[in-house]
Amino acid sequence: MRVPAIIFPADPLNPRRPDPHFAWEARLLRELGGRHHLVDHDALLGGDAREAVRQVPEDSGPLWYRGWMVPSARYAEFAAALAGRSGTLLTSAAGYAAAHELPGWYRVFEGATPDSTWIPWDGSAEGPGPEELAAAVARLGGSGPAVVKDYVKSRKHEWHEACYVPELADLAAVGRVVGRFVELQGEFLAGGVVLRRYERFERADGAPAGGDGGGGGGRAVEARVWWLDGRPVLIGPHPDTPHLAAEPDLADVSALVRALGCRFVTTDLARLADGSGWRVVEVGDGQVSDLPHGIDASGLLASLIAA
Ligand SMILES: Nc1ncnc2c1ncn2[C@@H]1O[C@H](COP(=O)(O)OP(=O)(O)OP(=O)(O)O)[C@@H](O)[C@H]1O
Ligand SMILES: [Mg+2]
Repeated sequence: MRVPAIIFPADPLNPRRPDPHFAWEARLLRELGGRHHLVDHDALLGGDAREAVRQVPEDSGPLWYRGWMVPSARYAEFAAALAGRSGTLLTSAAGYAAAHELPGWYRVFEGATPDSTWIPWDGSAEGPGPEELAAAVARLGGSGPAVVKDYVKSRKHEWHEACYVPELADLAAVGRVVGRFVELQGEFLAGGVVLRRYERFERADGAPAGGDGGGGGGRAVEARVWWLDGRPVLIGPHPDTPHLAAEPDLADVSALVRALGCRFVTTDLARLADGSGWRVVEVGDGQVSDLPHGIDASGLLASLIAA
């Protein structure tokens, strides 16, 4: 059996080297006896996958990717271009979309993650109209606070402007926050608009995350758990709070990760402020989830090349 290699983005300024953001992972991989190849991320995003994989040798065998997020359609082109060179990404295009986009993983995690609904984006600049928003609000129960994001990302740093909706029953306010979110995401809006019921997560300073208590959103203490073939191979902090360790209870989440059926994924877990347990904030594809700097990733990388 051949040992998988890992593909990293090339440094745009020095295409024979890994992008500086991933250089430490590539170095660690080498120390562990692993091999890496490079992909031209800009060419991949620009729709020229064949050019993007030019540096990956022919017949490269099993491959993982560790790099920047790419839209699911671009990932499919990436996988096809590698297949054209007899290389096999160990996460299929369908598997990538399932873990990377909320509608791909939501049904499996429903009940363990905040209630959510979504409106696919048709590519028009305005985003969803008032009737579509009213229908989405009704699907979420019609009242209470909520969070706005797209299939992949939020604008958590613009919490009050483009992320947090204090009251869903205020349809004008829903329209304002969603409108601003769509405007700020622009051409990068992934898939569609998601509305999620807001839940009070435990925060580093003891107050609930987000809300009006000051500090804005995105400050919940989250643990990022890295799963390979249904087993947790690394449990660390979320990259936003690299110094805050958490020890999540994984009993229920393990079964859900196995049910999703993707080989390499992450789950971000937060504890409810009332102490009643852990919630899945989001699921991600392990290939494009950020690793906090300074974390010991040797077990993770060793598992990937032993997979
Ligand atoms: N339903 C929710 N209830 C309460 N807080 C939430 C909810 N959804 C998101 N948040 C808060 O907003 C932050 C950003 O949300 P989320 O993780 O879904 O978006 P993201 O932009 O994909 O983040 P990441 O940086 O992890 O990729 C979360 O870390 C959490 O603190
Ligand atoms: Mg997140």
